[in-house]
Amino acid sequence: MRLYSLTAAAKINLYLEIVGHRADGYHELVMVMQSVSLADLITVRSLSTPEIRLRCDHPQVPKDQSNLAYRAASLLASQFPDVMAHHGGVEITIEKKIPVGAGLAGGSNNAAAVLVGLDMLWQLGLTQTELQDLGAQLGSDVPFCITGGTAIATGRGEQLDPLYGLDTLYAVLGKYASLAVSTPWAYRAYRDAFIATYPDLAIARPARREAVQSGPMVSAIAHGDGPQIGRCLHNDLEKVVLPAHPQVAALKEIMAACGGLGTLMSGSGPTVFTLAESRAEAEQICQQVRDRLPDPDLGLWVTQFVPTGVQLVS
Ligand code: C5P
Repeated sequence: MRLYSLTAAAKINLYLEIVGHRADGYHELVMVMQSVSLADLITVRSLSTPEIRLRCDHPQVPKDQSNLAYRAASLLASQFPDVMAHHGGVEITIEKKIPVGAGLAGGSNNAAAVLVGLDMLWQLGLTQTELQDLGAQLGSDVPFCITGGTAIATGRGEQLDPLYGLDTLYAVLGKYASLAVSTPWAYRAYRDAFIATYPDLAIARPARREAVQSGPMVSAIAHGDGPQIGRCLHNDLEKVVLPAHPQVAALKEIMAACGGLGTLMSGSGPTVFTLAESRAEAEQICQQVRDRLPDPDLGLWVTQFVPTGVQLVS
């Protein structure tokens, strides 16, 4: 029996700008993505039978073909039709630490870990670019989740420009366990509200990309300037998610009042994060939020910025 265990890091968006609506139905984005130390553990184990099995300890995670991790294995099996005859099938086990439906790429990073793990288990010898191209077929965030770290993401989110790592910062994450936000809903709501303001994509796409690449957020990251990063935090999806979910808006307000470098909703939410310059400061913010919101439904995590997405454990 052969197996590989991998950790798959959650991501937060330090910057998310919606440039416009694309002909393929997706939105054109300019984002700055960051991996954090909250991670799921994914194990891929070879089976003697040519099948894909999936186990997960989390009740809200589907265990069937709708799971993105399952679809990652299916995609590889269809791209390399002889692989199961040579190496057998696979049992995927997911130990969930990242909250589900949270805007932290919890599903995308499981798929990323399965691609990396199966590349080794099935001895496919794929390059990182090949793995990321396959990942882009599964979801816009999957290519970033493979490499992780700090990166500008454009296009649907699948085109990546790595940035110099930022592993000295911390992020306190807050999410209500009973609340999940659908990503398709968030983007649809944004389009319905703002379609009249969308610019001509052919002009805006390179201009916005260039503006972010040479703008204050990327400069602050290059200089490791935590306070400036905090001031540049931005997420367009807040404009639709916060009004629709006053509980998230209130959480953001309280977290922002507890100190730190800046507070933002991640991705399509509902996770809110506050940046901090040290673990001690992050722990202090976490305790203050807990004191002000002693709701057992509210999950809080102290995480550190990390330079990798998927990492081999054994
Ligand atoms: O790519 P992924 O499947 O993760 O995206 C989930 C949904 O989020 C898409 O079906 C789409 O509704 C929305 N989305 C979007 N534009 C993007 C990324 C995601 O509209 N760039």
